[in-house]
Amino acid sequence: MSEASEPAWTIRPERPQDAPLVEHLNETAFGPGRFAKSAYRLREGVSQVDELAFVAIQAGELRGSVRFWPIMIGAQRALMLGPLAVKSDQRGRGIGVALMERALEEARRRGHEAAILVGDEPYYARVGFAKLPSGRIRFPGPVDPSRVLGLSLKPGSLLNLSGEVRRARLDEPVCADSAGLASG
Ligand SMILES: CC(C)(COP(=O)(O)OP(=O)(O)OC[C@H]1O[C@@H](n2cnc3c(N)ncnc32)[C@H](O)[C@@H]1OP(=O)(O)O)[C@@H](O)C(=O)NCCC(=O)NCCS
Repeated sequence: MSEASEPAWTIRPERPQDAPLVEHLNETAFGPGRFAKSAYRLREGVSQVDELAFVAIQAGELRGSVRFWPIMIGAQRALMLGPLAVKSDQRGRGIGVALMERALEEARRRGHEAAILVGDEPYYARVGFAKLPSGRIRFPGPVDPSRVLGLSLKPGSLLNLSGEVRRARLDEPVCADSAGLASG
């Protein structure tokens, strides 16, 4: 089949049976080092926001995935975008941006106010993320401040965000050295 006649990828909500494939994709895209990242620590012991998890599928195959985690920034609820991953042989086709656009549209529809992430500004600016002023929000571990990005899902909501980034809740027990992240 020529590339032009291949069915295009589609984006749909992640289903429970997708989870092992999504985890494998994330493992391949980020490697074992992902567990040491500050952003990962905020996900540890917390369930993802199920209704904002989307996958890109083509011919029954997983091509990409985006997930979000619930967080608190100071006293405010927010979303943390990630992981976002696209299969290495499928990159540059617009799948990453399309996954984020779909998920962010759903987040707005559900009344979420703001999303943050740690990543490359030139890429995430494509869906509206911008650098947050240095020092406004503090992560529980080392993070390059120039990679801390935010997006208002409701006009002006980023203006109110400041303080420490913590888990929104704890769904499962985690090891003692990171348990403090959920406090407050
Ligand atoms: C980052 C990633 C999700 C992008 O997915 P994708 O489907 O290739 O992205 P899209 O096709 O929507 O966009 C591709 C465009 O973004 C650009 N781009 C990709 N990664 C970029 C980055 N880190 N910084 C700046 N631009 C980037 C590409 O050069 C391309 O530009 P073009 O449209 O001008 O050709 C994918 O490369 C990936 O899975 N990488 C490994 C995991 C990862 O790093 N995730 C992000 C963690 S912060």
